[in-house]
Amino acid sequence: MHHFAALKADGTRISVVTAYDYPTALAADAAGADAILVGDSLGMVALGYDSTVPVTLEAMLHHTAAVRRGTRRAFLIADLPFLSYGICSKASATNAGRLVKEAGAEAVKLEGGKAMAPTVEKIVSLGIPVLAHIGLLPQSVNQQGGYRVQGRDASSAEVLLQDALAMQSAGAFAVVLEGIPADVAAKITSSLEIPTIGIGAGRHCDGQVLVLSDLLGMLPGRVPRFVRQYANLNDQMTQALKQFSTDVREGRFPSEENEY
Ligand code: KIV
Repeated sequence: MHHFAALKADGTRISVVTAYDYPTALAADAAGADAILVGDSLGMVALGYDSTVPVTLEAMLHHTAAVRRGTRRAFLIADLPFLSYGICSKASATNAGRLVKEAGAEAVKLEGGKAMAPTVEKIVSLGIPVLAHIGLLPQSVNQQGGYRVQGRDASSAEVLLQDALAMQSAGAFAVVLEGIPADVAAKITSSLEIPTIGIGAGRHCDGQVLVLSDLLGMLPGRVPRFVRQYANLNDQMTQALKQFSTDVREGRFPSEENEY
């Protein structure tokens, strides 16, 4: 199974990156990520929705299967989309099972704290590893009042710690901590036996996850504080495509070397 626990035990940081299709999976896998997450961020960065709320299970199945075909080495995790879990444990388990059986995921991720413990227990009891996700919950954007850092005061930080402990007791193999202060993430990380994977949760988590299109600069617009952009592929793509159009218009493409 996944070797996340061993990585935490020997203090090796865990790197996780999202992927959404065959080429991004090939790149993430070749780059040596420990795990690839088919995040439901898919909805925002690949399908053009303004939140992850509309993402369907069918879309996750379709994209996870494509990522599976490009993943040879990394551990493959797929997001259960909004309302595909948590309503009843039978449907949650069935939908988690579809991501594994039909699309080739090796684990599923779901958002939510204590209230999701029975759902996590059910899915884990059927042999499907679960990555929990607490803190800023993109699927609950309407409830959390936007994409806001969570756990800024002592009582909400304590709720997050209890959520993380509940996910560990329910059998999650790791917990994503999204959008929480670094000191709160540090306390949760040192309180858990399972690894924490941070996104916007500071330096002290056991691992980090970023959305591939954020770290590669694939989309125009503001770069959030928690992102480090390692490339600006949006600029490079636009420049390359401009050059193509110019070459076509000016008769420079194709040239003799492109001909049969
Ligand atoms: O959907 C996603 O990509 C995620 C990560 C940001 C953790 O949930």
